[in-house]
Amino acid sequence: MDTAKYPKPMRIMHWSMSLIIIGLLILGLLMANWLADASYAGKMYWWHKSFGVLALLLIFVRLCLRWQYRAQIPQLPIDMPALERKAAHGGHTLLYVLMLIVPISGYLMSSTYTASSGITFFGLALPDVLPKNDVQAQFFTAVHVISAYTIGIMVLLHVAAVIKHRFFDSPEHDSLRKML
Ligand code: HEM
Ligand code: HEM
Repeated sequence: MDTAKYPKPMRIMHWSMSLIIIGLLILGLLMANWLADASYAGKMYWWHKSFGVLALLLIFVRLCLRWQYRAQIPQLPIDMPALERKAAHGGHTLLYVLMLIVPISGYLMSSTYTASSGITFFGLALPDVLPKNDVQAQFFTAVHVISAYTIGIMVLLHVAAVIKHRFFDSPEHDSLRKML
């Protein structure tokens, strides 16, 4: 049985970013919907933007790590059906693309929105990268919301696949041990 694991820096990055992104999804849903009128809503936006910018910085480091360790990434089991193999590669690629689109659209939305409270990274004021324009802001808001919901759905499918391979397939197909 192939016992190779993902290199340690990739494992640490995977779990750190998972925590941050799942936290941002929950916080985003709360602040923009159910707790939008709460007195502390502004504080929630402050935390959301700070951790959102952190996710944006980390995804670039993560892509560099993936490139650096590309030769040590464990292979999928050789007897894995072609369709499952394609689904795994396609799903992982889509997760990487969404990890870029979600925070970039969030940054551009806050940059262009006239009534935005600004973007801060844990207290450090960051610049708007585009001029204020509410029509553009509406567009970036739509991209942010749709891509954030899509990454949420993709993460649920990703976890369902991990559970299937761990509990319903043979031990060689258990993908979780590669990431622990
Ligand atoms: C991986 C990173 C991020 C994730 C997963 C994420 C997720 C979300 C989610 C789920 C919502 C709620 C959508 C809704 O129901 O309306 C939201 C809203 C929002 N996000 Fe993010 N976000 C991220 C990064 C960012 C960044 C970097 C910024 C800005 C610097 C940002 C600014 C906002 C703002 C201003 C809203 C409120 C939009 C509205 O009023 O409808 N987000 N985000
Ligand atoms: C925001 C949440 C998450 C994101 C964005 C994410 C993203 C990814 C990506 C892109 C890969 C492919 C790594 C590569 O080959 O470069 C991966 C692999 C993996 N993830 Fe996640 N993940 C998340 C949460 C989780 C959770 C909660 C679990 C545990 C149930 C998990 C378990 C795994 C496992 C076991 C692998 C290895 C798959 C394999 O090589 O066969 N992930 N993840």
